[in-house]
Amino acid sequence: MAKKQLRVGMIGYGFMGRAHSNAYRQVGQFFPSDHQVVLKAACARDPDKARAFADQWGYESVETDWRKLVERPDIDAVDICTPNNLHKEIALAAAANGKAILCEKPLAMNAAEGREMVAAVEKAGVPNMVWYNYRRIPAVTLAKRIVDEGRLGKVFHYRAKFLQDWTIKAELPQGGQGLWRLDVAAAGSGVSGDLLAHCIDTSIWLNGRLESVCAMTETFVKERMHNLTGKVEKVGIDDACTFIGRYENGSLANFESTRYARGHKALYTFEINGEDMSLFWDLHDLHRLQIFDYKDPDARGRGWKSVHVTDGDHPYMGNWWVPGLSIGYDASFTHQVADFIKGLETGKPEGPTFRDALETQSVLDAILDSAKSQKWVNVAKG
Ligand SMILES: NC(=O)c1ccc[n+]([C@@H]2O[C@H](COP(=O)([O-])OP(=O)(O)OC[C@H]3O[C@@H](n4cnc5c(N)ncnc54)[C@H](O)[C@@H]3O)[C@@H](O)[C@H]2O)c1
Repeated sequence: MAKKQLRVGMIGYGFMGRAHSNAYRQVGQFFPSDHQVVLKAACARDPDKARAFADQWGYESVETDWRKLVERPDIDAVDICTPNNLHKEIALAAAANGKAILCEKPLAMNAAEGREMVAAVEKAGVPNMVWYNYRRIPAVTLAKRIVDEGRLGKVFHYRAKFLQDWTIKAELPQGGQGLWRLDVAAAGSGVSGDLLAHCIDTSIWLNGRLESVCAMTETFVKERMHNLTGKVEKVGIDDACTFIGRYENGSLANFESTRYARGHKALYTFEINGEDMSLFWDLHDLHRLQIFDYKDPDARGRGWKSVHVTDGDHPYMGNWWVPGLSIGYDASFTHQVADFIKGLETGKPEGPTFRDALETQSVLDAILDSAKSQKWVNVAKG
């Protein structure tokens, strides 16, 4: 039987453009379905770069204006891999043209933009998803299954960190290709929207709604040369952000993110402490889940277990190699595409949808409000 085509239009050819293209190419081999992904068009402003990217990854055609791409009748799904300030405009246009949308995180620059995006995709009735891909690292998905089985008992604490060290140099400019993350006009915020957004999404997924937060941010380097204007300009992003908070289930949140933790490149860790069990995960050891089970009947042998999440009955792993062999960061994107397609086939959308991702956006707004006002802030609902 001929497979149904999912013809993808990719916007952006940077880090995520590559990660997603790799996933589209891999998904049919490891997660067969009734759909076949077709890499239809790649879009970048520079025609030579667009062509080189398309040739490298196997896209059939190129566009240099995303507006043209979202109007093409031969595109079913638009993938938004541009800096954050373009997510809303592209998503609104794609929804108006009836396209399915896979949008990179954070959903938007702020919750007001996010609400417009949710309204647009829901009005158009188009499938939508946000690339909070850490949910689909097998050890993290296993944590979710254990939490959903109720094995943690009452949860007391959720703590997470995302640490990097690449912006310590004061001479590093802001803005433009590769450095848009330091430019508030393109990024919307600093480590909060870039890094904490991942931690918040995972935490809401595992531990439920965050209802209030109290945050502190710092911009260590106050001015940087701007690549687009050639002038030294004020830095508007948060270089570091720490917040505490309360979840609806009564547990306490403790989060930290910075790009000034010398020696750390991408240290994302989280830990949940429940009455009966604690779980710990570390991106640097991504195929392991650390579990302490207080209900272990062997009381003398009780202790932290390091579970190598590579067995055939672990999430996603039955579709890969043989038990004991690990997969990498890139696979989380492949799993996300596989689940997106599953959602198309079952008619039951797989999260995080735009509406799910709006919750993270509302937490981000509350964090920045709290840091500014130096007060506790309630997270807006919806
Ligand atoms: N899920 C994750 O783990 C993860 C990781 C990194 C980045 N991201 C997100 O992905 C998005 C892109 O980040 P990145 O690291 O790939 O950035 P990047 O700088 O590597 O790539 C951005 C791309 O967007 C293109 N672009 C910019 N303006 C454009 C326009 N008007 N038309 C077409 N293309 C345009 C750039 O040329 C570039 O190819 C951001 O929203 C970021 O937050 C997510």
